[in-house]
Amino acid sequence: MTRLQPGFYLSVLITLLFLVQTVFGILRYSDLSCSDFVPRNVDSGNDNGQDYAQYYGSSRFGEGGSWASRYRIRNRYGKKLVQKKRSIGGLGEGYSNEPPYKISVTGRRYRRNSDLLVRIEGGDFDGLMVQSRVVAGDDVLRGGVGLIGQFRYLPYLFEYSPCFNLPFATVIDKGRPVKLGNVSFIWTAPDAEAGDIRFIASVLRGIHYWIIVSNVLSFNPFPISTYACGSSMACFRVCPYGAYPCTAAEALLIFSYGVDFRDKSEITFTLGGRLHHNRTYIAVAFGDDLSKLVQADMTVCYLERGRARMEHLLIENLQLPPYQHNEVIDLDDFDVDGKMLWCKFRRPINPSTIINPRTSLYHFYFSGNIDYQYQRFVLPSRDRIYHSAFKRNFSHAFNEIVSGTGVLSSEIWSSFACFALVKLMH
Ligand SMILES: *[C@@H]1O[C@H](CO)[C@@H](O)[C@H](O)[C@H]1NC(C)=O
Ligand SMILES: *[C@@H]1O[C@H](CO)[C@@H](O)[C@H](O)[C@H]1NC(C)=O
Ligand SMILES: *[C@@H]1O[C@H](CO)[C@@H](O)[C@H](O)[C@H]1NC(C)=O
Repeated sequence: MTRLQPGFYLSVLITLLFLVQTVFGILRYSDLSCSDFVPRNVDSGNDNGQDYAQYYGSSRFGEGGSWASRYRIRNRYGKKLVQKKRSIGGLGEGYSNEPPYKISVTGRRYRRNSDLLVRIEGGDFDGLMVQSRVVAGDDVLRGGVGLIGQFRYLPYLFEYSPCFNLPFATVIDKGRPVKLGNVSFIWTAPDAEAGDIRFIASVLRGIHYWIIVSNVLSFNPFPISTYACGSSMACFRVCPYGAYPCTAAEALLIFSYGVDFRDKSEITFTLGGRLHHNRTYIAVAFGDDLSKLVQADMTVCYLERGRARMEHLLIENLQLPPYQHNEVIDLDDFDVDGKMLWCKFRRPINPSTIINPRTSLYHFYFSGNIDYQYQRFVLPSRDRIYHSAFKRNFSHAFNEIVSGTGVLSSEIWSSFACFALVKLMH
């Protein structure tokens, strides 16, 4: 209510600025806007264009954003404005309306190399600039550092601006004299983990612009990176027939963990596998006995009503249903990506258990069915259980990749060959 008066000044100012703008040309985003998201006056050819721009300083956070941080950001730009243009100082800070635009992103996490849909919603506008940046505290516009990912398939009236020598990380409009509105962009995440990120847009309408930010998106570690497999990680994966070697995302079954034990009190394991139906479980087991899995330590992960669950079991031998192990293993993180279930869990390094650098065991990898009526985890027959080529200790890095048909032990191969021969003869 006390804002009425500044509001009045504001409209007077807008008119004045509008006159200034029509005299000096139009505002546009360009590579001059790379770090501050401020549209510049393109026709006057100098850097002063920003002084004609009205900065409201409102920024919108998603549901996760707090008023406190919103205020801080507003304040920050309020101050900046005071420095830049004394005559309208304070207006930026006092303006309290929600910006008329919103930037929304599909999902709350981003995966390596995967796409997200980024949408600018609201009424129509004249100009737009969008970037994705690594979150650095409260500082939304940390100067240029941390631009991340690439935009792809730009709508027709948009182009890239090569900010900070990154050719595909910033999108601006082409400056056509048309009304833009409700645009979407496809953004592809980088190949590596980049921590928390968010999208920032500056939306220009007339002589006003709004800087809006998306929810913070955290990194989704799945599918895991296989980059360090064989050097600092132990990895095993089963590739589909005809796709060898496959990526982690393509694998039918995959298991990995870091082998660097120094300064660590636990090992973090990741198990991933295809779900054939809603009763599939995926499992890894460690044991001494190659043929019957006698006393193998088994960890199983499965999906129940959209959430992953993990259980620790002991296989007495393949003929018996596995028993519940007395040591609980907690699921740390999980993800479902299409038909792929990812489960991450930790186990303490303990010389009195199998989880220690010295014990050498065979690794078994398999998936099976849950029988909700009778015996919970039905163990598959031996020929459907993949196993490591050798006994492994947990400090040994390896990278074992097998083909979906060739997992099987040599006996199976020969019976397969026999079968093929018989088929051929008929
Ligand atoms: C954007 O979408 C909303 C709802 O989806 C619609 O009401 C609005 O008119 C659209 N704006 C433009 C500029 O197309
Ligand atoms: C699995 O799916 C079937 C139908 O597709 C459904 O009837 C059943 O309840 C589901 N089971 C679980 C454990 O979600
Ligand atoms: C673990 O296995 C590797 C390879 O077989 C071997 O070189 C290493 O000495 C073993 N480490 C321990 C602590 O037994």
